[in-house]
Amino acid sequence: MVFGEKVYWDSKTAFVLAAIGSAIGLGNVWRFPYICYKYGGGAFLIAYFAALLIAGIPLLILEFSLGQRIGGSPPTALGKVHKNFAWLGWFAIFVGFIITTYYSVVMSWSANYLVHSFSLAWGNDPKTFFYSNVLNLSDGIFKIGSPQPYLLLGLIICWIWILLSIWKGARTVSKVVYVTVTLPWLILVILVIGGFTLDGAMDGIRYYLTPVWSQLLEPELWQAAFTQVFFSLSVGFGVMIAYASFLPPKSDIVNNAFIIGLADAATAFVAGFAVFSALGYYANIQGVPVSEVMKSGPELAFVTYPAIINNLPLAPLMGVLFFIMLLTLAIDSAFSLVEAVVAGFMETFAIHRTKINLIVGGIAFIIAILFTTRAGLYWLDLVDHYMTFFGLFTVAFLESIAVGWFFDTERLRQRINEHSLVHIGKWWNVAVKIVIPLIALVLLVISVIGIIQKPYGGYPRMAELLGGWIPLVLVIIIGILLGNITRKILRKSKVEN
Ligand code: PFF
Repeated sequence: MVFGEKVYWDSKTAFVLAAIGSAIGLGNVWRFPYICYKYGGGAFLIAYFAALLIAGIPLLILEFSLGQRIGGSPPTALGKVHKNFAWLGWFAIFVGFIITTYYSVVMSWSANYLVHSFSLAWGNDPKTFFYSNVLNLSDGIFKIGSPQPYLLLGLIICWIWILLSIWKGARTVSKVVYVTVTLPWLILVILVIGGFTLDGAMDGIRYYLTPVWSQLLEPELWQAAFTQVFFSLSVGFGVMIAYASFLPPKSDIVNNAFIIGLADAATAFVAGFAVFSALGYYANIQGVPVSEVMKSGPELAFVTYPAIINNLPLAPLMGVLFFIMLLTLAIDSAFSLVEAVVAGFMETFAIHRTKINLIVGGIAFIIAILFTTRAGLYWLDLVDHYMTFFGLFTVAFLESIAVGWFFDTERLRQRINEHSLVHIGKWWNVAVKIVIPLIALVLLVISVIGIIQKPYGGYPRMAELLGGWIPLVLVIIIGILLGNITRKILRKSKVEN
């Protein structure tokens, strides 16, 4: 049963922009530069582009074909591949749902910093400002305290913004993305050009682009590169399946996957210039080598960058631009995750869009409040680790196994090629059957072993249970229950046809 009229993208451009908007997010301008920094710059870049071509784009083609050729929201599409995989579609979108809860809180931090930029409120000690003034961080994960009023206020604003952006699904998103994709790019270009003019910028860029070849032999570097590619392309959370399901029949999937994959990587690459030139400048001021300028990667956006902004010409304006860029980058990633959940429910149950928008947004908002408390950062870190790693790799592994081994992959490849300008060769079958599942499985096993050996981030086992294992198990159980409903619906529609 499909409830309500089927809504398509306004145009091909709208789809491409929406998918690019989902892919380009905090992952490109925040996570990518600090991971790249951590692994010594150039070598990581090489591994990253290799991972993109080996697994990233083939997986993107797979998800687009699930949504558009096989057809439907993630549970329906995977249920059509094989009835026993319908639950996986639900699992994927629920993991994505949990990710939006903390992603929206990072947006709230950015909104707060946008306001603070006008007066450069972080002063000469951005670190204390971030941890004490903005987060009011407690000294233990169970010392939760109350929500921080300004973070809560930012969160409310962000959720209203997210819900308005998807109010009528693809129809609204089609319009919103023209601004939320182009504006951050424009700002990024300004920051890159500005970055090049800074003293010491070249030191930073040299660090960014010079590979230390021996690092390519480190398995950890490759693990980081594949993880970054998967996260950055927004695969594994049902988003790309849902978005492709709003494409009209006969759409070109391969072309779109290459455009979107390469645009995403190009954005990360360009963002690298903005960040590394600024790091070079900062290192120059402090009189230390670039390799020593940043102590902890995740602090990049909220501690290191504000410190750099202090020293830039037109500092408040630079701050405002930087945080508007973060916000507009994040918004389309956040609403894409919500849209995947909404699409799944709308297609399965006879619920009106307005109602499901409010229910999904309301529940996500309530969960997100936890991350605005005094222990919010700890929980955010913990939940992020579990959901991103387990969720992402499990879905990537199982969905490629589903299509590769329980479906006629060759026939699917031919169907994809029917309407594609660039044809994919038989290599794609190999990627789906062997390469992607193998890589995803290895990443999954490494993550599990790591966590069993040592609790992630040194958090107490009890916190791990509450923030990691219990949500994961719950999501699996709910996924299986809802998957059964999807199976029944699919069986019924088969009989009726
Ligand atoms: N790709 C986004 C980023 O790089 O920030 C994050 C993300 C959005 C991941 C949507 C997954 C997703 F479904």
